Amino acid sequence: METTETDIFEDIKQLKKQKNAIILAHYYQEGDIQDVADYIGDSLGLSQQAAKTNADIIVFAGVHFMAETAKILSPQKRVFLPDLNAGCSLADSCPTEDFRKFKEAHPDHIVISYINCSAEIKALTDIVCTSSNAVQIINDLPKEQKIIFAPDRNLGQYIKKLTGRDMLLWNGSCMVHEIFSAKKITQLQHEHPNAKLIAHPECEEVVLDMADFIGSTSALLKYVVNNDSKEYIVATEPGILYEMTKRAPDKILIPAPPNNNCACNDCPHMKLNTLEKLYACLKNEKPEIIIEESLRKKAEKSILKMLEISARLGL
Ligand code: 13P
Ligand code: SF4
Repeated sequence: METTETDIFEDIKQLKKQKNAIILAHYYQEGDIQDVADYIGDSLGLSQQAAKTNADIIVFAGVHFMAETAKILSPQKRVFLPDLNAGCSLADSCPTEDFRKFKEAHPDHIVISYINCSAEIKALTDIVCTSSNAVQIINDLPKEQKIIFAPDRNLGQYIKKLTGRDMLLWNGSCMVHEIFSAKKITQLQHEHPNAKLIAHPECEEVVLDMADFIGSTSALLKYVVNNDSKEYIVATEPGILYEMTKRAPDKILIPAPPNNNCACNDCPHMKLNTLEKLYACLKNEKPEIIIEESLRKKAEKSILKMLEISARLGL
């Protein structure tokens, strides 16, 4: 590495300008990466940005399915991911051939998939959704429509309860959101009786049932900024605390405890990206996301459908 810690921010800035590149970062990325990003957001916001950017290069500071989604939406642009091993346990919990058989066994069901899945699953999907628009997209379907929801069983169960729709759930989950301990959260609530418990819908039902507010990362952020309470127990990946602290510096934010002895609950995939890897990726233009054109076209349909519905519903 030719650059030093102190000038890496400046070098990234110069490279971005020189190459007409944009950095898109998810809220779960480390603080330094969020600081150099042109846009930080949740999965919906990031895919909307990827679809509309005029940049020639997108460096996606997130996980593989996110960078892949950017490439599907912007095939003429070059898309890079700082660490190609940054996968997702939830996306991995839905193998293509198993899902294809499941879909074939239920031909009268429409397939709605959470964006946290591979391009192959998106190609088998009618409409993609994110945690920001899943409820609205399901409610937008005709009442009697039977639905397959994949891959997250917790988000699926939450939507099913909220909408009362006929939904078959794929049995997948996120390792980060399933590890919160309801027992330890209860203890924390006794220590902080005025704290609001806020949770991402990928959490298990037992945690969601306890929550004062449930929402995507951007919805949780908005809630903390706008709500009058002083203290919050936050049940999602702790990377979000960086932007929450910036936007609501007077609030007390307590990460929800996991059911093991770890002090934090970082997503090991998200945290594979580092500022140094991001710099190297922008400088050397690798690793690059490459996707075969016929797969891209099939996957694109279900994502465009989501973007169309989201625009129509003003999301
Ligand atoms: P959102 O930011 O869309 O809420 O997604 C959370 C997540 O788990 C991303 O991997
Ligand atoms: Fe996947 Fe969960 Fe990590 Fe998000 S937090 S990237 S859903 S493993």
